[in-house]
Amino acid sequence: MIEKLDSLYKEFEEKITGLGNQADILNLKSEYLGKKGHISEVLKSLKNATNEERKLIGPKANEIKNEITNSVAKKLTFIETEEINKKLANEKIDITLTDAVRSNNNYSGGFHPRTLIQREIEDIFLSMGFDILDGPHIEDEFHNFEALNIPGDHPARDMQDTFWFHDPNVECDEKKHLLRTHTSTVQVHGMQARKPPFKFIAPGTVFRCERTDASHEMVFNQLEGMMVGENISVSHLIYFMKTILKEIFKKEVEVRLRPGFFPFVEPGFELDIKCLICSGKGCSVCKQVGWLELLPCGMVHPNVLKAGGIDPEKYNGFAFGLGLDRLVMMKYGIDDIRHLQSGDLRFNSQFRTF
Ligand code: DAH
Repeated sequence: MIEKLDSLYKEFEEKITGLGNQADILNLKSEYLGKKGHISEVLKSLKNATNEERKLIGPKANEIKNEITNSVAKKLTFIETEEINKKLANEKIDITLTDAVRSNNNYSGGFHPRTLIQREIEDIFLSMGFDILDGPHIEDEFHNFEALNIPGDHPARDMQDTFWFHDPNVECDEKKHLLRTHTSTVQVHGMQARKPPFKFIAPGTVFRCERTDASHEMVFNQLEGMMVGENISVSHLIYFMKTILKEIFKKEVEVRLRPGFFPFVEPGFELDIKCLICSGKGCSVCKQVGWLELLPCGMVHPNVLKAGGIDPEKYNGFAFGLGLDRLVMMKYGIDDIRHLQSGDLRFNSQFRTF
């Protein structure tokens, strides 16, 4: 019987070596250790054995039972570890690989078209010696309106529907807070922190409490620019604006300059570009006009220079506020501004860049 047990164990060991999945191993275990298993069958025949034989076979049978149990446990642990390792190997991301190799050429990331354009414009301005400034989204009334020559009762406040944090009807108080309605706020921060001559741009998000449509969003992006020094003229302004647009569109774009009113500039202009979506024929983006207001600009109002701590007798300058999202739409032929915030990967993946 001892030999029988030994040979059963040997047979078990051979069988288990060839098995690779949990269910088969557990089946094999019960084939040997189960109530009707091989080992139990052998033990059943113990009733015919002598006492001497029982003393030998009993411990032997227990020993083999333990061996089998251990062997099964070992094998199960081995399989589990192997499975985990296999999973880890599959899920491993080698961050040194390029996106194309990593994702097997499926889209897995890229820059938003606005980021692409913003970086391009920043590079152009940097090459012309401009600094790049940032400003807070939550502003006080002074930076958003007062310092920009828009006092409390000024009708220009109605031009920009504002998200207020406080009651706008309370008498003007510099501490009233709001979500900035334009990046012109950074003009004020920029002037306060610098001495002329200087020139900078300030790209960023702005907020307006207004109805959305193909060309309006409540949250959108502008790029403010300002240049202050001695003897700066409208021709400097026109030169910079034309150069920028030519660089951005990589071709001469048709522009037109109209007088425009903005309290912070005098004279103020509207620089329009011919709609690149419909080539001037009229579409939903240009509201059937064929032209798109893209670059309001002008010569900085003396009151604004004063509010920024700059002597308007000695210095002057120009400023502009580029509609960044509109520019993105023009450049890529996007016919609805709402796509930009949609977060829809089908939209974003069209601009993949790495
Ligand atoms: N802040 C204006 C707006 O959001 C845009 C603007 C107009 C900015 C004229 C300027 C400027 O710097 O000179 O509507």
